[in-house]
Amino acid sequence: MITITYHTRKGGVGKSVLSVHHAWYLVEQGYRVLFINLDTQENSSKTLTDATTDPDKAKWQATRAGDAGDILFRATPPDDITLEAFTIFTASASLSLLDTTTFGYLSENLNLLSPHIDYCIIDTPPAFGIETAAALAITHYLIAPLELSEMGLDSLYALMAAKEEMDQYREEPIHFLGGLINKFDNKPSQTQILNFIMDSEELRSALIKGVIKNRQGYADAFTQRTPVWTGTKTAERDAGNEIKRAFAEIMTLIDTTENSNG
Ligand SMILES: Nc1ncnc2c1ncn2[C@@H]1O[C@H](COP(=O)(O)OP(=O)(O)OP(=O)(O)O)[C@@H](O)[C@H]1O
Ligand SMILES: [Mg+2]
Repeated sequence: MITITYHTRKGGVGKSVLSVHHAWYLVEQGYRVLFINLDTQENSSKTLTDATTDPDKAKWQATRAGDAGDILFRATPPDDITLEAFTIFTASASLSLLDTTTFGYLSENLNLLSPHIDYCIIDTPPAFGIETAAALAITHYLIAPLELSEMGLDSLYALMAAKEEMDQYREEPIHFLGGLINKFDNKPSQTQILNFIMDSEELRSALIKGVIKNRQGYADAFTQRTPVWTGTKTAERDAGNEIKRAFAEIMTLIDTTENSNG
């Protein structure tokens, strides 16, 4: 099982929309996917656990295996957890009761589930709290959704520093895949920051190739609970191609790393 965490401390930059679409992308390719929501705002859980009877929508829904705080952070998780091809652990207030002793159980519990899952996608809250630290302690890969603003850039620097710190407690460093520019709108303030990034070797290399534009289709897809690429309008198809290109790039980066690890 390969674990991919979406995190940036800045709120509203697309952690939930991008992580859910990434899970859908992998489900569509036939992988067994586990989604873990560690954000008690529950945005991604709502999108993935709609009790719909519409078969076109139902196939994008995940089976709820329980609450992340109650199960994944317990020394002895229940032995009757059912993992389907697409499973979600949701987030509730119990996550706020985590401490540094309980968060160590996440790694053991994911190891138990690992043989039944190909990819695990983790959505995190917009803060560097205990939930985020727990995710960064165990994740193989890290993606930082990034808005091109001064605050967005600050959150990228903060994440790179947090990664360095977390790496000291890990056997292997986190593979930081990079910042994924989201909500790009070509406004002068954004292109100015993009130029600033491109002028810096360090920042440029910290970006994932490809930009996700600011398009209503992404927000609509999330509330409609279906991937943007299932839409029939030209704008939705364009958005679908754009986001799938970004995921294809991410999967290539992961494959390259996995192959070099042997
Ligand atoms: N590329 C995009 N174009 C247009 N709207 C977008 C795009 N990406 C996300 N949104 C919208 O922006 C809002 C914030 O997105 P999202 O909830 O994914 O961010 P987040 O980082 O998870 O937020 P939080 O930090 O609160 O968890 C949502 O309303 C979402 O639908
Ligand atoms: Mg979110």
